[in-house]
Amino acid sequence: MTIIAVFNQKGGVGKTTVTAHLAATLARNGTEPLVIDLDPQAHLTALWGLRPRPEETVLRFYQGLAPLTELARPLPCGVQFIPSHLELSKVDTQVIRHRDHVWRLKLGLAAEMLSGNGVPILIDCSPTLGPLAFSALFAADLVLVPVAADYLALNGAALLERTLAGLTRFCGRLPRRYLLNRYVSGQVTAEKVLGQLAQRYGAELLRARIHEQEVLGAAAATGEDIFSFAPESRAAADFAFLLDELAEQRLLRW
Ligand SMILES: Nc1ncnc2c1ncn2[C@@H]1O[C@H](COP(=O)(O)OP(=O)(O)O)[C@@H](O)[C@H]1O
Ligand SMILES: [Mg+2]
Repeated sequence: MTIIAVFNQKGGVGKTTVTAHLAATLARNGTEPLVIDLDPQAHLTALWGLRPRPEETVLRFYQGLAPLTELARPLPCGVQFIPSHLELSKVDTQVIRHRDHVWRLKLGLAAEMLSGNGVPILIDCSPTLGPLAFSALFAADLVLVPVAADYLALNGAALLERTLAGLTRFCGRLPRRYLLNRYVSGQVTAEKVLGQLAQRYGAELLRARIHEQEVLGAAAATGEDIFSFAPESRAAADFAFLLDELAEQRLLRW
């Protein structure tokens, strides 16, 4: 499996943070992943210090005007990156005229031989449930769901379960893994959320957890990945553990 959609309909749970640092972890481990910012809010694009014009972004691919390979650019952190732009939100509003948008990414990745070639692909999804998010889910081998350890986490997870269940008739049951983010060991809410996630999702809840760590935000503000910014931090260890677990479960190969 190589295509991972980092998805949760809830905003602020860590989709962009997890995508950025998991990609950097892969790069540290000797591969050059392809990362696609599929959120019109373009947080990942901004995080990595880019301010592209709309025609330099994934929007152009959805308009049918450029292949993905033409839009990918190498970044200093060792990833190939396709940025996003606010205008990408147009794709979500043109659903009636462009029903084929939902399959476009899967077909594009296959046609350009980007899927199945052993290079991992990470997609940072928008929380909006429109053609963009569906196109990421339809293309994905695995849905990685960050869940923030707060008191509304389980509501968000239940909503997401319903969404994924609705997709089953189009693409079968998508393999998924839940990743607890912003975890504070011993904190009552965090432990409660952890317990309930474990009960509800069993083996689909990853053993890896991303702890609440200010350094993740601080690294983001400098545009650096966690391994350059704070190599000895717990955050760096958390992401290394996450990658090991995904590899061990054969959910990610490179
Ligand atoms: N483990 C963490 N520790 C501390 N801050 C975090 C952590 N995960 C995410 N954040 C912060 O929470 C905010 C929302 O995270 P983000 O990745 O943008 O979520 P999403 O993409 O799901 O909307 C950001 O400011 C980010 O820096
Ligand atoms: Mg985001």
